[in-house]
Amino acid sequence: MSAEARQGTLRIGVLASGRGSNLQAIVDAVASGAVQAVIAVVISNKQEAQALERARRRGIADVFLDSKPFASQPDRREAYDRAVLDVLKKHQVDLVVLAGFMRIVTPVLIAAYPNRMMNIHPSLLPAFPGLDVQQKALDWGVKIAGCTVHFVTEGVDEGPIIIQAAVPVLEGDTAESLSARILAEEHRIYPKAVQLFAEGRLKVNGRQVSISGAEQAGPGVLLNPA
Ligand code: GRF
Repeated sequence: MSAEARQGTLRIGVLASGRGSNLQAIVDAVASGAVQAVIAVVISNKQEAQALERARRRGIADVFLDSKPFASQPDRREAYDRAVLDVLKKHQVDLVVLAGFMRIVTPVLIAAYPNRMMNIHPSLLPAFPGLDVQQKALDWGVKIAGCTVHFVTEGVDEGPIIIQAAVPVLEGDTAESLSARILAEEHRIYPKAVQLFAEGRLKVNGRQVSISGAEQAGPGVLLNPA
């Protein structure tokens, strides 16, 4: 029986604004069976997002949701998120996966998906939240960089940490070379986090996410899970 045909299979909605390589990693992991879920819909605020093209190629519903029509409303961010929520509900999404979604999500979405919305960030949070973080890591002179999958809460890049992976910063690294090294780890840990969620193995207690059955899980952190 295909994953789609199975009853009760986790339904994922992916929000992405650009390249969509993390989306692709999850699509591939679903296709290989490493992630037992269905990608129900991919939503983007950018019509030209490669993520939408990647979805179309795999026959996944793709939705471009323009923010411009909402621009004149006083609560334009919330209004936009209500539109996103409508699409997520229409596709019966259980888990929202932010994959390079370049908008700050409002409580409209966060309250609808408490501990059911994940984000990936290319730093070892709580170091370097925000944008251009690989360059910031280089500027700071850190020796270890990495990436973090976390649940989404109202504070940007502040939610409970699910998985982190570390990479070395090498002599002569540029933002591009460091980003590429981190991205390879993103593609490994994001599908892993989604599968842990699908298996019901993530328990959130305050800031801590415990992972049942994980071998060397400290509170909220599983380093380099296989
Ligand atoms: C990744 O570096 C991710 O960590 C950050 O945005 C980038 C998205 O890349 N949130 P892609 O669109 O998944 O290729």
